[in-house]
Amino acid sequence: MLIQVDQLVKDYQTNKNQKGFFHGIKALLMPEYETKRAVNGISFSISAGEMVGFIGPNGAGKSTTVKMLSGILVPSSGKVTVKGMDPFKDRKKYVSQIGVVFGQRTQLWWDLPAVDTFDLLKEVYKIPDKVYKANMEEFRELLGLDEFLHRPARQLSLGQRMRADIAAAMLHEPDILFFDEPTIGLDIIAKERIREFIKRMNKEKGITMLFTTHDMQDIEKICERIMVIDHGKIVCDSQVSDVRQLYGTERKLSVQFSQSYDQIDIPRVQTVHEGGNQKSFIFKNNEIKVSELITQLTNNYDVQDLTVQEPEIETIIKKIYEEGAHDYESVS
Ligand SMILES: Nc1ncnc2c1ncn2[C@@H]1O[C@H](COP(=O)(O)OP(=O)(O)OP(=O)(O)O)[C@@H](O)[C@H]1O
Ligand SMILES: [Mg+2]
Repeated sequence: MLIQVDQLVKDYQTNKNQKGFFHGIKALLMPEYETKRAVNGISFSISAGEMVGFIGPNGAGKSTTVKMLSGILVPSSGKVTVKGMDPFKDRKKYVSQIGVVFGQRTQLWWDLPAVDTFDLLKEVYKIPDKVYKANMEEFRELLGLDEFLHRPARQLSLGQRMRADIAAAMLHEPDILFFDEPTIGLDIIAKERIREFIKRMNKEKGITMLFTTHDMQDIEKICERIMVIDHGKIVCDSQVSDVRQLYGTERKLSVQFSQSYDQIDIPRVQTVHEGGNQKSFIFKNNEIKVSELITQLTNNYDVQDLTVQEPEIETIIKKIYEEGAHDYESVS
């Protein structure tokens, strides 16, 4: 296993925020600490070459996990092992083998042209000239860096900055990438570009990736596996195709009839009158097979056209989040 995580926990200590003058003095003299458990005993493993989408509602513990995986934060308990290393303890050696991008922060030098940050990284990581040149050439083309390479980072648009940050994280050819919201705030075209790039790096170079996102299209378009975290716990870890099977049992069959029918009653199927000669049939694919439903309809009615709709990945994920929220309501 390339990445092994066992019973990982992260607690944050926060100063209890008491307002007012008296409380201010009290807080200074007798600070009261509160413990917030952000990650609550998660375990998973990732094999080489996998592309894993790490999703969950706001505050679920995604960024905290990514920070522990990348050696920025030390776990409160539990264990992370990546390529046999402990990200925090073996940090020096470790950082040369991974790349990290935080969509909400940049690692570019704010006042320097992007290209100068790249040159600095070349020195930091001791990247050989030849490797550096080849990689720069590739990233300039695939990420379209030329249009802004010589502008200071602070002048870059969000999309440009993100592309530069991704290049910066990959110049030293890491074989593992951790991305925390690499598509946040980007327009559709920019998102597509980054998705394409990520997919390509995974396919062509076999780079293992874990990335967080709130964009379900990211998941649908680039991931094979998703892990869902909620309140610091993994609530789902499965292949995207299996998630559809597990949670997305509801199907919709839309039918255009050649004439209008008042009532069509089929057991285990809910009929929706869409107006005109159009009706929809909502059913669960584990209760009635779509082929069976179509046969029943075409045998008894004059069917002109029909389409079957699978649930959107958004709908399925929403269901997982809602179930998670529900579980937590019932325990507290
Ligand atoms: N430095 C910190 N000090 C105290 N609490 C923190 C700190 N960082 C995060 N937390 C808390 O830990 C929990 C998990 O935060 P985290 O940033 O990992 O969530 P997330 O899943 O990345 O959410 P989002 O989707 O909003 O980015 C939250 O309740 C958050 O308020
Ligand atoms: Mg986050």
